[in-house]
Amino acid sequence: MREELRKLYEKRDRVLKMGGEERIKKQHEDGKLTARERLEILLDPGSFVELNPFVEKRNTDFGLDKMELPADGVVTGYGTVDGRPVAVFAQDFTVLGGSLGEMHGFKIAYILDFAMKLGIPVVGLNDSGGARIQEGVDALKGYGDIFYRNTLASGVIPQISVILGPCAGGAVYSPAIGDFIVMTKNPNCYMFITGPAVVKAVTGEDVTPHELGGWEAHAIKSGNCHLVAENDEDALKLVRKLLSYLPLNNMEDPPRVETGDDPSRITPEIYEILPEDPGKPYDVREIISAVVDNREFFEIHKYYAPNAVTGFARIDGRSVGIVANNPAYLAGCLDINSSDKIARFVRFCDSFNIPIITFVDVPGYLPGVEQEYGGIIRHGAKILFAYSEASVPMVTVIVRKAYGGAYLAMGSKHLGADIVFAYPSAEIAVMGPEGAAEIVFRKEIAGASDPKAMREAKIKEYREKFANPYRAASRGYIDDVIDPKLTRVKIISALRILESKKEKLPPKKHGNIPL
Ligand code: HXC
Repeated sequence: MREELRKLYEKRDRVLKMGGEERIKKQHEDGKLTARERLEILLDPGSFVELNPFVEKRNTDFGLDKMELPADGVVTGYGTVDGRPVAVFAQDFTVLGGSLGEMHGFKIAYILDFAMKLGIPVVGLNDSGGARIQEGVDALKGYGDIFYRNTLASGVIPQISVILGPCAGGAVYSPAIGDFIVMTKNPNCYMFITGPAVVKAVTGEDVTPHELGGWEAHAIKSGNCHLVAENDEDALKLVRKLLSYLPLNNMEDPPRVETGDDPSRITPEIYEILPEDPGKPYDVREIISAVVDNREFFEIHKYYAPNAVTGFARIDGRSVGIVANNPAYLAGCLDINSSDKIARFVRFCDSFNIPIITFVDVPGYLPGVEQEYGGIIRHGAKILFAYSEASVPMVTVIVRKAYGGAYLAMGSKHLGADIVFAYPSAEIAVMGPEGAAEIVFRKEIAGASDPKAMREAKIKEYREKFANPYRAASRGYIDDVIDPKLTRVKIISALRILESKKEKLPPKKHGNIPL
């Protein structure tokens, strides 16, 4: 073999081995795969093309000059998922803990630029001890370059982060700026700003990394994590599925898929799902499953604020974003966390040309000091803002309760929904009949010879007058009252006609969503 070729293959071989056998063994013992193994699962077989494999650190302090750091600890490049292009980076913990130095940061920033230039999604696989301590401010610069590009790319290309090991300190902010965060149930997978040692020093609390920032912390409590996977392989398969619903960039429509589900299929099972008693709970996801193609609903933020439901599905082969209240939790009311969840999801769909279908069954905003002090005014306003600025096709189905501000917030006609349907069971009013009777007829009830009977009579009167869909229908606030068995058929017809919808917002730099 010619000498220069021998040298090339020797160098390439060195890069392929990353941190070496010992560290790869440890990585496997920790229930984790290496960066290259992960890319094999994420991408179509044989499609990965590596870029910049020979980039090397430039800093030499604190013993770095004696260290060999193949690929500088991050494998970057591009490939395909289901034949569609995607840019990728994968940090490799076997190379100095996947720590991010100047050139490691450069490689990721380069991939973000590359993805933006081409208009293709970027998937980042995170497994890193954070800023490479030996490289000081150069490591911080590396992060800064990434955050800046994440921000410019927001709303232009989908950005998905998978947390497969440590993601500590400022490293968490690249995933946080992006669109979706996937975590695994591996105890070695965690995200936090300050680690257990700092927490102990400052607060005296003893916590493990997993307690502080594992999947439960972020999927259930903080809401930072959108999808939870059993392990590395499962996480990467989830990303492939997620990408299938998304366009490559904000100038394209999502792919249309032949799902084989009949567009004229009726949904009489909704009669069984929806209880006759309006006070009884049910799980709205059963209605969603009945309506979407092949009952396939890809739920986002499943464990966070379950009183609201968000996720992707296909209807008539089109990607749609589904938003719903779920009466199975907190009676489906809106609170701080569900407001954030819904607003963020609506804005994602709007950025990427994904129509939004909203199922409404909401008794109102959750009352209480905790909610008020926590800023329900500000957080609740996000939903109003998100729906009002959205210009994608929007179809709303009012299933049961639609009360007060929450009626407006949940994709009402008044905030720009294109077609609003209501079931005959819908109750659209300022508040529930019980509360309304107490306030409006207080004196008559108190002065009646039988206050209890009077109260019941007034509740009945209010319900008959306002707690039905016909007052709203008479004003044109809803487009039609429909038989639930026609839900799928009606939504498909709406989506078909709305395909040509074009709506422009007034020119501005950007809005000032209440954060
Ligand atoms: C340099 C690092 C490193 C880092 C890990 N390593 N993190 N080297 N800079 N940040 C090295 C270790 O020295 C070790 O090298 C190898 O990677 C494997 O690490 P271990 O500690 O043996 O692994 P483990 O026991 O699994 O522990 C994982 C860990 C721990 C909990 C993540 O490594 C750790 O605490 N790392 C530091 C975390 C941290 O404080 N990062 C800085 C955050 S501040 P050897 O050769 O000994 O095997 C930050 C600021 C960014 O990121 C700000 C941006 C705005």
